[in-house]
Amino acid sequence: MQQLEAAIFDLDGVIVDTAKFHYQAWRRLAEELGFAFSERENEQLKGVSRMESLELLLRAGGITDLTEEQKEDLASRKNEWYKEYLQTLTPADVLPGVADFVGQLRSQGIGTAIASASKNAPLILEKVNIRPLFDAVVDGNSVTRAKPDPEVFLQAARLLGADPACCCVFEDAAAGVEGAVRAGMRVVGIGDSGLLARAHLIVTSFEQLEPVYLLNHIGIAGHAGGEASE
Ligand code: BG6
Ligand code: MG
Repeated sequence: MQQLEAAIFDLDGVIVDTAKFHYQAWRRLAEELGFAFSERENEQLKGVSRMESLELLLRAGGITDLTEEQKEDLASRKNEWYKEYLQTLTPADVLPGVADFVGQLRSQGIGTAIASASKNAPLILEKVNIRPLFDAVVDGNSVTRAKPDPEVFLQAARLLGADPACCCVFEDAAAGVEGAVRAGMRVVGIGDSGLLARAHLIVTSFEQLEPVYLLNHIGIAGHAGGEASE
């Protein structure tokens, strides 16, 4: 059996609930453009890049006649609102169980990284003061291809010196789960089992997850060797 070398975490909706701020900002843009945008429709925007999210939003609103310049302008307006919402973040916004879980993995010698599509990742990590828990950060500023492309996960594994087959990714978005599977990694879905069906294990919160339980359910052994026992 492979041994777990690294744990790679998406940021928005996994470490901190910024997914709700993305939704609020996209919904505000849709309202200004004259259409309603539901939380269900928003699911497909999760994990994908800002410009791709905008394309999906415009398609949902039946808007097809904008120039590239107009689209850039809409995307930056959304981003300004989003950054305004991010100002309210504090360390208390780190999702329940995350810090303990990541700390336990680190104490077992497992490398940890963030792999996010967001260009705002450095700002968010600073606001919630969680950067020290991660050995590496790969975000929307350093990748050339967005999820579901595996690039962001493979870059994270490379920075940690880990074999992709020995990495486990934690994701809340279908595009992210797909990217991690394409990277040849194990994947834990955080959230709705209907939307994350390709994940190897699905939980609703890190409070439900302990390293031993993880190792026993993703077909990968503990770092120190041998199978985990519950
Ligand atoms: C992902 C989010 O983490 O980052 C997407 O799930 C978002 O919803 C993408 O579009 C890009 O984020 P940002 O902050 O660079 O606009
Ligand atoms: Mg996410």
